[in-house]
Amino acid sequence: MMFQSNSRVVVLTGAGISAESGIRTFRANDGVWENHRIEDVATPFAWERDPKLVWEFYQGRRRQLLDVVPNSAHDALVLLENYLDEFLLITQNVDDLHSRAGSKKLIHIHGELRKLRCETCGQVIEAMNDEHLQNQYVECTQCTDKKLRPHIVWFHEMPFQMNEIYDAVGKCDVFIAIGTSGHVYPAAGLLSVAKDVGAYCIGINLDPPENVSLFDEFHQGLAGELVPALISKWLNE
Ligand code: OAD
Repeated sequence: MMFQSNSRVVVLTGAGISAESGIRTFRANDGVWENHRIEDVATPFAWERDPKLVWEFYQGRRRQLLDVVPNSAHDALVLLENYLDEFLLITQNVDDLHSRAGSKKLIHIHGELRKLRCETCGQVIEAMNDEHLQNQYVECTQCTDKKLRPHIVWFHEMPFQMNEIYDAVGKCDVFIAIGTSGHVYPAAGLLSVAKDVGAYCIGINLDPPENVSLFDEFHQGLAGELVPALISKWLNE
């Protein structure tokens, strides 16, 4: 595999890339995520039924961002981005480790823990100050809504920026998936879109993911070791 600086490259990352920074993946413990079943905390129905549970759960995830740092895989993707003219990083992760590492051409397809959104007026705010990270709700500053929600795409909701994503994947030369189990659509379907347009597809994951047979190259192991090693090899070839 040879990369040119004019190769059009799309990278898709999932929870596995942040695992070595200390953030747990979703499917590691039989679908139990930080002691909650995903469907009890990550759906609009859960938010309607028990907003306090969902809020406190996400406040815990938001506070955790203060204790974690990007790892060598996040860092290596910045080198790749800097080398290429056309690059897009799509992350399913709601943490902020890619942007803290320095990634710029980045789409958070499932939203961002750093942000809160008002369901009444639509305002989205960056909310990581002390007063935003307590267990009480945060009020909207623009309307009378007393309870902002996490700016997260929950199950049964539409992922963000899909047009831009399909546009980039539909014309990429190389597609690289890192640290994702390939279970959650539409993100999991991007590999077959890339394959359909003839892109060279590379997978890097601790366990073979659902759709492993679609990769032209699959590297099994830790993202923190494999991603820097592969990127350094590609950029020096
Ligand atoms: P998963 O938890 O489903 O999968 C994480 C994958 O990372 C697994 O296949 C692991 O084998 C792999 N893995 C774990 N540690 C690794 C490491 N150190 N290096 C490389 N790979 C490693 O997470 P996602 O595929 O990201 O959605 O899950 C997709 C979506 O499902 C998430 O974005 C989330 C979840 O529900 C929302 O929050 C909307």
